[in-house]
Amino acid sequence: MPDRPSNREPNVGGDPPRSRWSREQAAGIERTPETVAPIIYPPESTPAEDVHVWDTWLLRDRHGRVADLDGWRVVFSLTAPRDLLPGKRHDVAAIRYFYSRDGRRWHDGGPVFADDALGQRQWAGSALYDDGDVYLYYTAAGTEGAAELTYTQRLVGASGGTVTTTGSSLSIDGLWTHHELLRPDGEWYETESQSRGMIYTFRDPWFYEDPETGEVCLLFEANAPVPEGSDRCGGDDGLQEFNGAVGVAVSPSGDPMEWELRPPILESVCTNQELERPHVVYRDGRYYLFVSSHMHTFAPGLEGYDALYGFVADSLGGPYRPLNDSGLVVTNPHNAPFQAYSWMAFPHREEILVESFFNYFDFAGDSLDEIAHLSEREQRRRFGGTLGPTIRLAVDGDRTRVLGTLDHWHIPTSNESLPDFDVDDPAGAVP
Ligand code: FRU
Repeated sequence: MPDRPSNREPNVGGDPPRSRWSREQAAGIERTPETVAPIIYPPESTPAEDVHVWDTWLLRDRHGRVADLDGWRVVFSLTAPRDLLPGKRHDVAAIRYFYSRDGRRWHDGGPVFADDALGQRQWAGSALYDDGDVYLYYTAAGTEGAAELTYTQRLVGASGGTVTTTGSSLSIDGLWTHHELLRPDGEWYETESQSRGMIYTFRDPWFYEDPETGEVCLLFEANAPVPEGSDRCGGDDGLQEFNGAVGVAVSPSGDPMEWELRPPILESVCTNQELERPHVVYRDGRYYLFVSSHMHTFAPGLEGYDALYGFVADSLGGPYRPLNDSGLVVTNPHNAPFQAYSWMAFPHREEILVESFFNYFDFAGDSLDEIAHLSEREQRRRFGGTLGPTIRLAVDGDRTRVLGTLDHWHIPTSNESLPDFDVDDPAGAVP
């Protein structure tokens, strides 16, 4: 492993004041021109006609830069056959990869793993390219070999991936070894049996090397245990089961397959149950922590949206304060409230770009439950199942602003300059 820079002491896992996303902060969530993405229309084509694509992540190097493999870049996506009902995709999810030279035209590389991956199906993660090796982090959902579908979640790392490129193609192969990395400990991170409400979460591992301290971290989505009879949330049972957390593990040796749990860096107990796909963008000496969350995972008494939420701190361990006061960074327009989900932010020059998948469109209902009552044909017709337009975000300290969008699947190369933005004609967003 390369030596770690050590400008400062490790920051994660000491005893930082645990940051909280409070009900008071979340009560300020409101659509504004700065936070609403433009409406999405179906694209003409998708690189994967036979599969639905949702959660997607970039192959990045240790420094968080998009990996350049002889001019190619790679994304990994959760995928499921297109003829399934969209709601069933989580039960059969498998990871595929796509590669591109220009960041616009993508080629389907196929499934990454044969049938040796852990879990009954694989959920989201991240990918690291280091010294010619590919490491894939994912969530093993369900227990392999179990007869019934189960919801156990474990963080897994696969090592042994190699990349071969030619002038016209790229392939990721490997004799993968799947390492179970982490399970919830029941103290900082809720186990399945401790869970009191919705399905517990322990998933979405995201590799991150702190650029200031060199500390090697794995962020993940989790829940904080709140035992019955706790006085949290004023002792209100109905609020206590909304116990989202952003978890972290560290690798003291820097080995990408060896991790030790540390306390969460953010909690949303009494506020929200799911802080999904946590990831960090470092910018101007600040750490921007992003998560996706749903309208239906906010605790009673709060109104949030399916949206990208963000927090900022001066160090990776926190303390974090919500961006734009409430935490809301990007959401869908009110007339298409479920049009995108599972946002992933990454730096690009002066801006932050945000990729997400095209979810349910042509639907202005208040809840995704209403989708379930539509005919199967209508459910399929209204599900995008491909990447949405990439969103351009301006960031200034604790404030962010949606500037506009690039095309579906347009993930610019690092040296690509984006068109100047006409400040008098922002985004076309409909708050
Ligand atoms: C977000 C998410 C992830 C999970 C995946 C499962 O869209 O809930 O947290 O890994 O979907 O499909």
